[in-house]
Amino acid sequence: MRAVACRRYGPPKVLQIEDVERPVPKADEILVAVHSTSVTSGDARMRSFKGAGIYWLPMALMFGVLRPRNQITGMEFSGRVAEIGKDVATFRVGDPVFGMKIGSANAEYVAIRETAAIAIKPDSLAFSDAAVTPFGALSALEFLRDIAKLKAGERILIHGASGAVGVFAVQIAKHMGATVTGVCRGANVELVKSLGADEVVDYTTTDFTKTQDVYDVILDTVGGTSFSRSKRVLAVNGRHVFVVQDWPQLLQAMWTSIRPGKRVICGMSGGDSKSDLAEIAGLIDQGVIKPVVDRTYPLDAIADAHRYVETGRKRGGVVVSVAA
Ligand SMILES: NC(=O)c1ccc[n+]([C@@H]2O[C@H](COP(=O)([O-])OP(=O)(O)OC[C@H]3O[C@@H](n4cnc5c(N)ncnc54)[C@H](OP(=O)(O)O)[C@@H]3O)[C@@H](O)[C@H]2O)c1
Repeated sequence: MRAVACRRYGPPKVLQIEDVERPVPKADEILVAVHSTSVTSGDARMRSFKGAGIYWLPMALMFGVLRPRNQITGMEFSGRVAEIGKDVATFRVGDPVFGMKIGSANAEYVAIRETAAIAIKPDSLAFSDAAVTPFGALSALEFLRDIAKLKAGERILIHGASGAVGVFAVQIAKHMGATVTGVCRGANVELVKSLGADEVVDYTTTDFTKTQDVYDVILDTVGGTSFSRSKRVLAVNGRHVFVVQDWPQLLQAMWTSIRPGKRVICGMSGGDSKSDLAEIAGLIDQGVIKPVVDRTYPLDAIADAHRYVETGRKRGGVVVSVAA
């Protein structure tokens, strides 16, 4: 099968389309014929191995010190079940599915365990849209529900509201009953409003830390906010939650956790929960949330897709089409 290989860390040009062996599903695995996949900010980081910051060592141990351990790129996919292992009970050949598996998805076929993050694709969702859903939606759900512990009636500010995590965070926070303020560039204000944000702040003209508004939660999905500056707009027991974190945020998180009052919280999302992906599929089915597709590239243009993702300017997700 054709797949995107990354044999060494480096710029987008290290990516090559290669013919590799098609995976054979084990007894508990499903083989998916991929229709669409994606390039996420995480894929670009894993390819370049830059920007890992404080997580350099754990990432190196997990993903390979000298060269990538997973030499096929990509994590999100959508497509149809092509084969099932003998123990698979909940999927049938031909089922439309979408899911997430790190280091394998930019390929014509993906083998994934039945118990991993794979779900039936909602009918209302095109294959292309389904391929930019799991990374952002699973991260947003975990950060809001488990890390920020957002409650109905709270006021949340989402910084980076137009990115892959941000577009889902806005919609899921609204669904959880919060009052949502999104922060993005002027060009993305209408998009973020259309996702249900109650207010949108254009960070190129307005500094949210200098307004009179107060938030129970500040969720920074892209970096750039600081606890020292945002303290004055955080409520008494407010939480400043960092999706992207380094030493300053981790030290602040430790320090603020041992005393009452405003807190910094850092966290990691696993992005591998089957039940969470089923919940996301349900919310899409009910019309509560939807993915945002920015651009679509053919598999052969994977390096261009990485170059675009690295600009840090994408809106929602970048699709890579695999099936003709
Ligand atoms: N800790 C975890 O477990 C975890 C999980 C998922 C993701 N992440 C990380 O979270 C980060 C965000 O991921 P993502 O995929 O959502 O990123 P992304 O899609 O690449 O984010 C792009 C968006 O960021 C916005 N942006 C850039 N600079 C900004 C600024 N100064 N202020 C406000 N918005 C800004 C851009 O909007 P404008 O053009 O409007 O500025 C753009 O729409 C990545 O670093 C990713 O690796 C971490």
